[in-house]
Amino acid sequence: MIEQIKLSIKEKLEAYYKEKYNFELAIVVESPKKAEMGDISIPMFTVVKALRKPMPEVVNEAIEEIKSFDLPINSISNAGAFINLFVDKAKLSAKIIKDCVTLEDEFGKSNIGEGKTVVLDYSSPNIAKSFSVGHLRSTMIGNSLKLILQKCGYHTVAINYLGDWGTQFGKMIVAIEKWGDIEVIKKDPINELASLYVRVNNEEKEHPEIAEEAREAFRKIELGEPKYVEMWKWIREESLKESEQIYDLLGVSFDSYNGEAFYNDKMDSVVNELEEKKILEEDQGAMVVRLSDDIPPALIKRSDGGTLYITRDLAAVFYRKKEYNFEKAFYVVGGEQKLHFNQLKGVLTKMGYKDLADSIIHVNFGMVLKDGKKMSTRKGNVVKLYDILMQAIDAAYKQIEEKNPNMENKNEIAVKVGCGAVVFNDLKNYRALDYEFDINAMVKFEGQTGPYLQYTGVRIASILRDKEFDINNIDPNLFEKPHYFEIVKQISSFRMTVEKAAEEASPSVVAKYLLSLASSFNKFYSLEKINAEDVVVRNTNFALAKSVRIVLNEGLRLLGINYLEEM
Ligand code: ARG
Repeated sequence: MIEQIKLSIKEKLEAYYKEKYNFELAIVVESPKKAEMGDISIPMFTVVKALRKPMPEVVNEAIEEIKSFDLPINSISNAGAFINLFVDKAKLSAKIIKDCVTLEDEFGKSNIGEGKTVVLDYSSPNIAKSFSVGHLRSTMIGNSLKLILQKCGYHTVAINYLGDWGTQFGKMIVAIEKWGDIEVIKKDPINELASLYVRVNNEEKEHPEIAEEAREAFRKIELGEPKYVEMWKWIREESLKESEQIYDLLGVSFDSYNGEAFYNDKMDSVVNELEEKKILEEDQGAMVVRLSDDIPPALIKRSDGGTLYITRDLAAVFYRKKEYNFEKAFYVVGGEQKLHFNQLKGVLTKMGYKDLADSIIHVNFGMVLKDGKKMSTRKGNVVKLYDILMQAIDAAYKQIEEKNPNMENKNEIAVKVGCGAVVFNDLKNYRALDYEFDINAMVKFEGQTGPYLQYTGVRIASILRDKEFDINNIDPNLFEKPHYFEIVKQISSFRMTVEKAAEEASPSVVAKYLLSLASSFNKFYSLEKINAEDVVVRNTNFALAKSVRIVLNEGLRLLGINYLEEM
């Protein structure tokens, strides 16, 4: 928290020298070598040199100026050219807590992203195939990053880049034509389409000619044959409904659903440019861009003229740059696609767009494991993700019923707790790590879980319910006690934590922070009677508890988790 004071001193002093002498000086504000010298130290050598005045005069002038700043400083002195000062921890703490209580959910807002746009490409399921665990991870990580970036002042564009183009549609159509009964499908499209898709993949193993038929059917979509285009649209719409059920549960939304199909007519210009720049080479009938020795060539066009995943991603990145003029483009996609994104950047660099390539960030993530093996929703053993979320909600319901049987709207709360549990469990560890999926562990009200955080918030809400307190009648000296000070320090670092999460594109920074804030609060709760007799002590305790509640709620919101009044 001293960091913030350092920063204000630096800014205010620099403004002073600019205003008075018209000097652009870079003032250094650091920590003294020895703690007994103070909390903050400012070497004045550069100022002395710039002003060409005797050192004591310069130092005294600066000391007088610093004293006029409205900052919680206890004492200020100098040792030669070093100005040393002690921070008034009690006053500083009071200021932080007061800020938090008055700013409420605006507390922790940062402006590092002001005027900048970040495009986030996340969720992006493949239509006609089922929504995989990887897509769920992408959805949760992407949604949280969007909220974190917004808190830092960035303008965000959330894009669900649907995998709505490719031979899988041809396969679907072949399956529907061979075995489908439209009436039956219409009654339960999601499940019927999913099982037809499983069937066509299985049959293909014995009847390889199906692959050819599928290509043929997809070709007809590409050529715009009305009947086939109609079917494509219908399948796309129906299977999007499965994803939407999940988005609704998790409270996730997008600004654009422009998927791969949207770029079908936008690839020619990229291919032409590659040709003009003479970087497209023929290789056994196909067209490729050769990259450096350590990356295999990028396949841009197949020998039958068909385009590929990377061709569409190239078209998409140019389109997005033009449309949104982004500073950075985040692609929240599993680690298996590392090569794809390296190739994408490689091709862009070779085209002469090094800056554009550098602005692409592959926000990769690890696998979800079940009993140590990759959890899969494909290949017949269709574990529907929607069902998995429902299991988490059921498990949450059971716990609520045990703890609080008479509560109203148990169902609604169970949804928020169950989903919060799955989301928090996903976001709490650094995203590139794999993790084991254990529903019972993640919905527990104790331990490193989402429900634990929600529960801590609810505990504070019930302490503060119907209570009034005067934030101007508190005792700042109490904040110097270790169990108070610990919390104040954490509250004051909220903004920096959110900024760090944005810079590292990692929601786990916020998740870990919330766990330690909650644990400090629970320790405080066990040591202190919050609703104290003495009115000043009580006000101070309430203000501190209220700050924790504000930051917990806001932090949970940034992860995409609902906070609750009761549970
Ligand atoms: N639909 C793809 C998949 O499921 C993910 C798309 C990621 N985004 C992108 N621009 N490539 O594998």
